[in-house]
Amino acid sequence: MYKKEELILKVENIYLSYDKPILRDVNFEVHNITRPNLKQGQVVSLVGRSGIGKTQLFKILAGLQEPKSGTVRIGKDLHPVEAGEVGIVPQNYILFNHRTIVENLKLGLRGSVNKMSEKEKTELINDYANKFGLKEHLKKYPMQLSGGQRQRVSIIQQILTGNKFILLDEPFSGLDPVIKDKVLELLVSISQLDELNTLVIVSHDIENALAISDTAFILANEEHKEGSTITESIDLIEMGLSWDPEIKHNKHFQDLVAQMKFRM
Ligand SMILES: Nc1ncnc2c1ncn2[C@@H]1O[C@H](COP(=O)(O)OP(=O)(O)OP(=O)(O)O)[C@@H](O)[C@H]1O
Ligand SMILES: [Mg+2]
Repeated sequence: MYKKEELILKVENIYLSYDKPILRDVNFEVHNITRPNLKQGQVVSLVGRSGIGKTQLFKILAGLQEPKSGTVRIGKDLHPVEAGEVGIVPQNYILFNHRTIVENLKLGLRGSVNKMSEKEKTELINDYANKFGLKEHLKKYPMQLSGGQRQRVSIIQQILTGNKFILLDEPFSGLDPVIKDKVLELLVSISQLDELNTLVIVSHDIENALAISDTAFILANEEHKEGSTITESIDLIEMGLSWDPEIKHNKHFQDLVAQMKFRM
């Protein structure tokens, strides 16, 4: 049982070119999905091959880059996106190496400075660190953590900003399979912390992206046309392939992934 309620993200006719077209006619929507007695957030992925324009689209969605034309509108009032109002975990995310993990996480709370006392901030960070297996690392520096641990700190930092929308560029790259699964678990739990939490994942790793998504869009080229666009929309809920922690073992899911790899 679920319902697709109001629109919370609407991307219309995005066009971007440099010396040649990169993205064209990119259109998609995200609705608030509700399920009885659950805080069900949204997880949407945009998947495509390397060089297809995912990072460019990521920047446009985050309000960090102006497209040549087209609009990105977010929130219940569908206002034009502004830089800073969506959390971002970039492809080459940065933590501050001269600050400890707890200090890095506090940066996420910067925007809430007036609303929270130091004590409240520390409590909230401890709470998240406990939940996501980073408790024993809080006093360390980023260089003393593994790549996967740093990745999780960077994701949690964005959650702490309080932004409902979080965009992630290749969140699974460079991680071994076990750590990848931890990142997947973390993203699922984030999506269930708040009804309006919405994760938009940009990735070439179709298996992992689809494993936690309710909706996926394939970004690819069409024959004889320059610039990539959305060539396929996949409603994983309708297909009965969403919200299942064991989905990677499901035969239908594996078939879908195999098919889509072929089409991207
Ligand atoms: N500033 C720029 N000037 C000209 N071309 C650019 C610029 N930035 C990106 N491009 C081109 O845009 C295209 C898309 O790049 P983008 O980084 O979005 O790909 P991607 O899908 O994220 O690839 P990957 O999976 O490797 O990260 C590439 O062909 C790239 O060369
Ligand atoms: Mg990229």
